[in-house]
Amino acid sequence: MEAVVTSLYAVSDLHVGHTDNRALIDDMLPSSPDDWLIVAGDVAERIAQIRDTLARLRESWSRVIWVPGNHELWCMKNDRADLRGEERYRHLVDMCRGIDVTTPEDEMPVWPDDSGPVVIVPLFVLYDYSFRDAGMSAEEALQDAYDKGIVCTDEFLLDPEPYPTRQAWCAQRVRESQRRLDLIPRESKTILVNHYPLKRIHTRRLFHQTFAQWCGTTATEDWHTRYRATDVIFGHLHIPGSSVVDGVRFHEVSIGYPRERRYRGNSPLAPRLIRTLS
Ligand SMILES: [Fe+2]
Ligand SMILES: [Fe+2]
Repeated sequence: MEAVVTSLYAVSDLHVGHTDNRALIDDMLPSSPDDWLIVAGDVAERIAQIRDTLARLRESWSRVIWVPGNHELWCMKNDRADLRGEERYRHLVDMCRGIDVTTPEDEMPVWPDDSGPVVIVPLFVLYDYSFRDAGMSAEEALQDAYDKGIVCTDEFLLDPEPYPTRQAWCAQRVRESQRRLDLIPRESKTILVNHYPLKRIHTRRLFHQTFAQWCGTTATEDWHTRYRATDVIFGHLHIPGSSVVDGVRFHEVSIGYPRERRYRGNSPLAPRLIRTLS
């Protein structure tokens, strides 16, 4: 008999390499065994830890939908350093399939919303430095980041192989994502899920604007309207919150690092409720 779905939750940036965050996973339980959980990237860096965390969540949630963050794509010493770029991503996809976790390469799940079916679209789009300061070239923006000492670790650990650059990999991911999005029937609403914000405006909340160049691509600026989204789920910024743009609800659902939570004082420790069926 088909399970009756009750609620849809979303979370991101679990960063379970941090002991305090690992302890939170035990409490990430659904309100009903039929609930679904979206995990919008940055689970961990090491493949075994990513697998164990997602498998554990899948034990208690009826469905788990994952998209990669930049941390899953890092090549760490002593952790399958041979798996780089696209090959590493494909390895993670195969691993998720082995534990029944949905990825951006799988059939898109359909949420049976009270208002009609909503297609959940897991995306892996990456970034291409186009969220940089508008007055700078890409080279100038990167140099400016080095000068300020605010350089994303991706520059050292996120290998885009076989693509020559992360921009080129991003461009390919944009094309592939659009190909899939264009297959969704025009009458269907969507919930878009990506590790990075789809709109530049959401990076305005970053304390260091220099960091925005590692946070998305302007190629996705209108996807929330073009692809009929009711909600957009993302993380990466480690600035949890919700807002409405063009009538679409945007949810930054990150847990982030323990030190960030201590600094903010009231950061969420649990997945965000996105939808509940009546
Ligand atoms: Fe993160
Ligand atoms: Fe991230």
